[in-house]
Amino acid sequence: MINAPLLAPSLLAGDHAHLAASAATVSVLGLKWLHIDIMDGNFVPNLTFGPETISALRRHGNKLFFDTHLMLARPDRYVEAFAHAGANLISIHIEPDYDHAATLARIRALGCQAGIVLNPDTPASAVKHLITSVDLVLVMTVQPGFGGQAFRTDMLPKLTQLATWRTEQNLSFRLEVDGGIDLQTGSNCRSAGADTFVAGTSFFKAADKLAFAACFARL
Ligand code: DX5
Ligand code: ZN
Repeated sequence: MINAPLLAPSLLAGDHAHLAASAATVSVLGLKWLHIDIMDGNFVPNLTFGPETISALRRHGNKLFFDTHLMLARPDRYVEAFAHAGANLISIHIEPDYDHAATLARIRALGCQAGIVLNPDTPASAVKHLITSVDLVLVMTVQPGFGGQAFRTDMLPKLTQLATWRTEQNLSFRLEVDGGIDLQTGSNCRSAGADTFVAGTSFFKAADKLAFAACFARL
């Protein structure tokens, strides 16, 4: 099964003094997803937003699907807070040591979709046992922590592997890519099986965001 291409602009590249306005830029284009990066200064060497940011965006009336990417050493301690704040999908990394399967199950029990994330140096095999229990697999195409980094072409075989398992097992999870995604790298990822495209810098820097989004819809 082939999922339609979906663009998820990343709030990280928006205006941090006007987050509601940056999120609204995405809504007015008719896009459906907003990618929100949560960093703890521990699992990754940077700090960003917390559950209160998500609640505040909801209070300001934003109705986008919040694709919430937790870059936390202990995501299991925070899934309730993010679900209650208004996240729609919560993705957790495979690398830290905690009960991944139980945390994914808890995310779903909280009424959210659940995703598993792999860093560039983590092989696809690390999440093979979990792909029947997720709505999304996120392949990091840069080392997480900062926007504006160069796309890692060596991640393409990992996408192909995950897409192959998805077909073989008749699964329908979304295959998302995050980091250095623009029209060219996004197109290469689409050819390798990706269907969900996080774009921070390329989206917020695009002079014509409507045209940019339309190109992604045709990938
Ligand atoms: C990086 C974050 C990304 C980031 C991507 O750690 O997970 O979501 O916003 O930014 P760009 O698109 O600029 O590479
Ligand atoms: Zn992200």
